[in-house]
Amino acid sequence: MKKLFIETYGCQMNVADSEVVASILSNNYTITDDEQSADLILINTCSIRDNAEQRIHKRLRELAALKKRSPKLLVGLLGCMAERLKKQILDEEPTLDFVAGPDTYRSLPNLIEEAAAGEKAYNVLLSKTETYDDIMPVRYAANGVSGFISIMRGCDNFCSYCVVPFTRGRERSRSPKTILDEARQLLADGYKEVTLLGQNVNSYHYEVDGNVTTFAQLMEQVALLSPQLRVRFATSHPKDISEELIRVIAKYPNVCKFVHLPVQAGSTSMLQRMNRVYTREQYLEKIETIKRLVPECAIATDIIAGFCGETEEEHQATLSLMREVGYSYAYMFKYSLRENTYATTHFEDDIPEDLKTKRLEEIIALQQQLSLEHNRRDIGKTFEVLVEGVSKRSEDQLFGRTSQNKVAVFPKKNYKKGDYVMVEIESCTAATLIGHTV
Ligand code: SAH
Ligand code: SF4
Ligand code: F3S
Repeated sequence: MKKLFIETYGCQMNVADSEVVASILSNNYTITDDEQSADLILINTCSIRDNAEQRIHKRLRELAALKKRSPKLLVGLLGCMAERLKKQILDEEPTLDFVAGPDTYRSLPNLIEEAAAGEKAYNVLLSKTETYDDIMPVRYAANGVSGFISIMRGCDNFCSYCVVPFTRGRERSRSPKTILDEARQLLADGYKEVTLLGQNVNSYHYEVDGNVTTFAQLMEQVALLSPQLRVRFATSHPKDISEELIRVIAKYPNVCKFVHLPVQAGSTSMLQRMNRVYTREQYLEKIETIKRLVPECAIATDIIAGFCGETEEEHQATLSLMREVGYSYAYMFKYSLRENTYATTHFEDDIPEDLKTKRLEEIIALQQQLSLEHNRRDIGKTFEVLVEGVSKRSEDQLFGRTSQNKVAVFPKKNYKKGDYVMVEIESCTAATLIGHTV
């Protein structure tokens, strides 16, 4: 068997894809974590922001040295950057032997064969139907407790700043049967948590002979597999999150009380330029419904600072919305111009870099405060924590997550990875709950 080293950048969907790739290549390759001894190196890439791509260019230059030492080594580029740059990146980066877009992984054995014969090969065709439905991923990178299942691919939303609809193609859902089979397999392998993945899971829609499965129904079917299997999902688009889904979250104790609902910006005017198709008020109504039906639910978000034409007032509206919702967590970014998106062809990237930085810093500082307040409210309460491993800070402490997706640390005693334990919270930081088992 030859040795394969896969390096994955970007979102969880890329992580799940790398596991599919490992499975497709498993007849000829076993996974290694030592790049020095690899016969094949695959870099699964992300294009979401310019800095994500710059990191990968840098990495490819590093690999050039390794390639010089082992001339038989093949290096392939996968993922969103492969799709965005297509053949151009083969010309620009001499380290690369082949390039494969996100819908072409079944053709990898052929691409590798061509590359081994000395031909620079590429396949970047997007598909309207490919979901890798029948492929059971090789979970080489998982922690054995928490697994991911891709339930759909692509995105049809075309938010004006975003490259994903171009790199991942049209939205398509995978059959409930293969999703449930995969979840059952995780359960049989001892996993305790599964996260259902897609760019916009709320628009999951699978139809066969007139029978439709919605996302809420799928969640329910997965939740019913076992009360010992926690279920999470990511990500939801605010326009599609349904009351039906929120009721499923409320109903099943093993459906985690955590919703990641990216808002991006707090003013209706900005949301309109972003083509998010909801207003500030509509977003807040959805939040209201979540809080009403699932009071213990934590809510997280994504925010972009300094998008085209952002006024001080619009920036303030983002800050005020953050306070109003009281997010437990947020991913926060500076707007990064992406070629060929609607924003690039129709608006100007006119917020100066230092102002983008200033606004982002204000957003981060506020979120820090909101996370701390959110965690402080947990002091004195007891939570069920799924143990993920030994704490980085101390051998005598374990860490895991609450249903609300917060990291909790506590003394180890006789507990181990994969256990559910009850932890009473004594103190906290903005990032961590600290407690003891009861
Ligand atoms: N499908 C998910 C998000 C996928 S990308 C959703 O719609 O919620 C993850 C996050 O990256 C986005 O939520 C957005 O906040 C950020 N992002 C996307 N394009 C960006 C860009 N051009 N510049 C900065 N941040 C961006
Ligand atoms: Fe990008 Fe919008 Fe699709 Fe999310 S929903 S992936 S932000 S286009
Ligand atoms: Fe990045 Fe592609 Fe995911 S652009 S965020 S790897 S879908």
